[in-house]
Amino acid sequence: MDIFYMPLLCLLVTLLLSSLRFLFHKSKPGTGLPPGRTGWPVIGESLEFFSMGRKGHPEKFIFDRMAKYSPAVFRTHLLGERTAVFCGATGNKFLFSNENKLVQSWWPFSVDKIFSSSIRTSYKEESIKMRKMLPNFLQPEALHRYIGIMDHIARHHFADGWDNKKEVVVFPLAKNYTFRIAFRLFLSIEDPKQLDKFAKPFNLLASGVISIPIDLPGTPFNKGIKASNFIRKELVAIIKQRKLDLPNGKVSSSQDILSQMLLTSDDTQELDIANMILALLTGSHDTASSVCTSIVKYLAELPHIYEQQVKIARSKAAGELLSWEDLQKMKYSWNVACEVLRLASPLQGAFREAIADFTYNGFSIPKGWKLYWNTNSTHKNPEFFAEPTRFDPSRFEGSGPAPYTFVPFGGGARMCPGKEYARLEILVFMHHLVTRFKLEMVFPDEKIVMDPTPFPTKGLPIRLFPHTSI
Ligand code: HEM
Repeated sequence: MDIFYMPLLCLLVTLLLSSLRFLFHKSKPGTGLPPGRTGWPVIGESLEFFSMGRKGHPEKFIFDRMAKYSPAVFRTHLLGERTAVFCGATGNKFLFSNENKLVQSWWPFSVDKIFSSSIRTSYKEESIKMRKMLPNFLQPEALHRYIGIMDHIARHHFADGWDNKKEVVVFPLAKNYTFRIAFRLFLSIEDPKQLDKFAKPFNLLASGVISIPIDLPGTPFNKGIKASNFIRKELVAIIKQRKLDLPNGKVSSSQDILSQMLLTSDDTQELDIANMILALLTGSHDTASSVCTSIVKYLAELPHIYEQQVKIARSKAAGELLSWEDLQKMKYSWNVACEVLRLASPLQGAFREAIADFTYNGFSIPKGWKLYWNTNSTHKNPEFFAEPTRFDPSRFEGSGPAPYTFVPFGGGARMCPGKEYARLEILVFMHHLVTRFKLEMVFPDEKIVMDPTPFPTKGLPIRLFPHTSI
């Protein structure tokens, strides 16, 4: 070979070797970025991440990489961003306890675009305002007064949709239940026509959030943005009217969460309140309905658990409304719900952003990287839950699971503000279900997929066998 080409050849070989090193190098603690792979340009590993959820095994994405790279943290590329996935109880603890120190909440572009009310603010700014206001309205003490209303709605819901039927499809019914409760508790809206007006935009909004964020006429993302603008406009009109009606005594100050918000926050803009309500209505809708659906599935599959539920329900006199004390007594029911939340968490995790360079477990995490905590690395991990696929509510007896292992609502400063609200509406739902029926799945092997919340592929058709007496 001509001596002239030798340096060029050496340069090419060096470049080739260093790119191979980049592709196959497994970082060790103290040597740099967390180990992992970033996948295809731009899309990274997003397709694999979502497709495993759609196949019903979201945990496989996490466990494959924990085994291959590191059980503590691995690198990937999701939703167009370089991402470090934090795993195990230690990973959860680290992210939950470093909010606003090393990390802060981060939302994918689609969420930001659909939930922020203008191009000037981001959902992050709006959610900071919301976090300041919310505790007043969603704490257990504040929710006491709404239990009777939840019970009343549940009675009507079961009378309209379940009673006198041999078979029902559970998923759409559960959605209807949580939707009715949210609109009544937040806005005092009960009229079916008004509810119908909101139902379609909410579905479009939910599809928009999980779509490819291309804002062109006709795309799901574009429809999601339009739907959120429509809902926001309607909410502002409702808020304006309420501001007029409250001082005149035309509406009661304690009738719903909107009245409470307006009375305790004089200077808050109508648009800010509309945004909070929009976020709360969305947050409350698909999550709790997914849990109610999964509860029906497990109660139908596991009769011994079902029998235990009936015993609790028998302690109530016929027609007697549920009280706060009743719900506090339903400890076993809540353990069943927790086991459902462990196995079928409505949200599989959430993102943060590194706001400074830092080191975790010996690996460098650069500022600006996105960080992902997830329920599966603990919920389905035999290190924290023995025989993790077995349904066993007794795991929640006594002191329950170890700290930072059971995290369906997240943890730390960003923990879900609707946890208590969700607990109450789920318990009320369970009570009405088991006091009325025995259950049998029409398709015993019906598959549950995540898209993005868990849902049964056929909507969960169930045969109902009413109790002759309780
Ligand atoms: C079983 C039902 C529910 C589950 C499993 C659930 C779970 C979660 C999780 C994991 C997060 C993210 C926390 C993080 O970023 O680390 C979250 C956030 C949130 N949830 Fe829930 N949630 C449920 C029900 C509700 C309900 C009923 C409401 C409203 C009444 C609600 C309102 C919200 C809001 C507004 C946020 C965003 C908070 C923020 O921006 O800081 N959720 N939820």
